Amino acid sequence: MSDGPRLPPWYRLITLEKVDSTNAEARRRAEAGAAEGTLIRAVRQTAGRGRRGRRWASPPGNLYLSLILRPELPLCEAALMTFLAALALGDALAESVPPMTDISLKWPNDVLVNLRKVAGILLESSLRADGRLDWLVIGVGVNVAHFPEDADYPATSLHFEGAEAVTVDQVMAAFARHFLRWSDDWRHRGFAPAREAWLARATGVGGEVRVRLGSESFTGRFLDLDPSGALLVELEGGARRQVTAGDVFPVS
Ligand code: BTN
Repeated sequence: MSDGPRLPPWYRLITLEKVDSTNAEARRRAEAGAAEGTLIRAVRQTAGRGRRGRRWASPPGNLYLSLILRPELPLCEAALMTFLAALALGDALAESVPPMTDISLKWPNDVLVNLRKVAGILLESSLRADGRLDWLVIGVGVNVAHFPEDADYPATSLHFEGAEAVTVDQVMAAFARHFLRWSDDWRHRGFAPAREAWLARATGVGGEVRVRLGSESFTGRFLDLDPSGALLVELEGGARRQVTAGDVFPVS
């Protein structure tokens, strides 16, 4: 491993060779009192977790990290940080891929390169007895060198998309820098600018999508991202549906 990434001083980096899941480790450390800004990074995970209970393949060569945050906010507001993380990842990846490469965001928080998934985000949190947020963990996985062939959504890696020289440390440092910038912007200007930026980079806005919610699935037109981070879908006949959790696929 190299000397490690050069991170802004706000972060406290903990690097592990192997862990079950950096999110699980971050949760354990948050419960034990780890400070906001603690960043757990692992070379590989043995039980990497994806959204909706899925597994996240985690061989060495990709980026696995989890950031501990302790925002003094209700959970519904703090959860918007997932969009800041997606924006930061998009900006970070734009620094490493060849010029003109298409980078887009897919609701709720996937990052696509040339319309294939290259990164995912998993948010986990815990509330205190008084109902306020105790900690929030933002888990980030980036396919730097490898990608799964059997994923639900077509996947790719940075190396496959032409960024052969980019390293895990470079992606991590760029993400850390851009995440601080987006968090700062959010603190000063609220969620509206991030929402606009997310919509400008989102794939499929205005197009037909299939939304999968567990066993239910429906199609409609992707209208908007509402201020709470929910996806607004227009159904046939004009009714609107607000989607707060689920998977979205383009209908071709
Ligand atoms: C998704 O399903 O798209 C979210 C994937 C999140 C994976 C990352 S890898 C680092 C962190 N630790 C985990 O176990 N999961 C997240």
